[in-house]
Amino acid sequence: MENINWSELPFGYVKTDYNVRCYYKDGKWGQIKVSSSEYIPLHIAATSLHYGQQSFEGLKAFMGEDGKIRLFRWEENAKRMQDSARGILMAPPPTELFRKLIYKVILKNKKFVPPYGTGASLYIRPLLIGTSPKVGVKPAEEFLLIMFVSPVGPYFKTGFSPVSMLVTRKYDRAAPLGTGKYKVGGNYAASLTSMKKAHDEGYASVLYLDAKEKKYIDECGPANFFGIKNNTYITPKSESILPSITNQSLMSIAEHLGLKTERRAIELTELSSFEETGACGTAAVISPISKITDDDYGINYEFKNAPGKITTQLYEKLLAVQTGKDEDIFGWVSIVE
Ligand code: PLP
Ligand code: COI
Repeated sequence: MENINWSELPFGYVKTDYNVRCYYKDGKWGQIKVSSSEYIPLHIAATSLHYGQQSFEGLKAFMGEDGKIRLFRWEENAKRMQDSARGILMAPPPTELFRKLIYKVILKNKKFVPPYGTGASLYIRPLLIGTSPKVGVKPAEEFLLIMFVSPVGPYFKTGFSPVSMLVTRKYDRAAPLGTGKYKVGGNYAASLTSMKKAHDEGYASVLYLDAKEKKYIDECGPANFFGIKNNTYITPKSESILPSITNQSLMSIAEHLGLKTERRAIELTELSSFEETGACGTAAVISPISKITDDDYGINYEFKNAPGKITTQLYEKLLAVQTGKDEDIFGWVSIVE
């Protein structure tokens, strides 16, 4: 692809050649269809449009130095989409169907997989939507699972450079017993105003607190939070955050590197004792955090050495496994051919 400047790619939509689709109707999934249209025919009363009955996923494929395409932990995304689907009464796509669609959409768009060494990757976006028309608030009986891809660069503009985060008590992203643990569009709609405020004030994202007590750290906009202290990787335990596959992977890497790991409630004020902090996710990979501003109390938690030594080790190991530079000792990578 001569007209793509791979190493300058932002995290955004790039038109590719094909997407893949599968409809659920009469209680079963149909044939996989390949489409070159960027549009979907949709009933004006579809539940996805009116009542937010939709879920999406995000995962990445990487070109290795050996010319093989490596897909990272797709089974975990399949499981999470099944959880999200059950959480808002949609038909969960079977794991094997999910795999077939991913492989097909990657292989059909092979030329959009960014070359090894450019820092870019192929982002795969599965989307599940309710398509049945309803005017009363009810779940659909028919669904569409669609997957498209886009070559992407880093999510936060700076890549692996330190970012700052804003804490605010004026907005919540998800309710304690709400849908925060599912990957559904409504959570992102709920985050738009506060995220815009953060961006307008020069922050990369909002660091959300638990909605009930406003005392504990939840997550960083579209990424989980972690902190490092005393040779321990610490990440929030909360019912209202998305269970991040990257975070789970970093915990395994941390243990592999000889660190202890803890998943537990983290009070905001504990930030003052952390040595390093970061935001992690498929899109964000790891964004080291250099400053967290508590707007309401005028407090700044600063991590002047960001990116810290351990954060850097975690980042390098994750990417080395994803791109095939290091051996896949965790069994996370599938070769797509
Ligand atoms: N939290 C939210 C709200 C997200 O949207 C994402 C992105 O998927 C993450 C965390 C990170 O999850 P993962 O590492 O599975 O991409
Ligand atoms: C991801 O990390 O895959 C995300 O989905 C984050 C954001 C683009 C919603």
